[in-house]
Amino acid sequence: MAIRNVVQVGDEVLRQRCFEVENFDETLFRLLDDMKDTVKKEQGAGLAAPQVGVLRRVVVVDVEEEGYFEFVNPVITSQKGEQSGWEGCLSVRGKSGIVSRPMKVTLAYQDRNGEKHVIKAKGFFARAICHELDHLDGVLYIDKASHIEKA
Ligand code: CO
Repeated sequence: MAIRNVVQVGDEVLRQRCFEVENFDETLFRLLDDMKDTVKKEQGAGLAAPQVGVLRRVVVVDVEEEGYFEFVNPVITSQKGEQSGWEGCLSVRGKSGIVSRPMKVTLAYQDRNGEKHVIKAKGFFARAICHELDHLDGVLYIDKASHIEKA
């Protein structure tokens, strides 16, 4: 396991659409293990693979109330309500912004072994999931924020 360098805004890798994971193998395990080390060290609420330069549909979310999750090929299958709140991003250092997100989401995903799951999330957990999934399509919160401040 290792800490990987977090790519910063301006790098084109953050603006690409990521590819589905097809091989649930050692390379994926290493990526997920490294993403865990990296998000813990950086004390982020989540991290997406393109943020460590890998164009695959892989995110991790680490939210205090819910715990630590790995989502491979995640898809939001339904969403409900709306919430407005502050977000930051490990790829946009020194800033935070107010972003509108769904209050509740249902997420279909695979785990590192390729097993399929469905999870329901609300509040900050739902926000973190939406933020990380946006990264997989080259979208950053600063594209959506109604207001951005120096953090
Ligand atoms: Co981010």
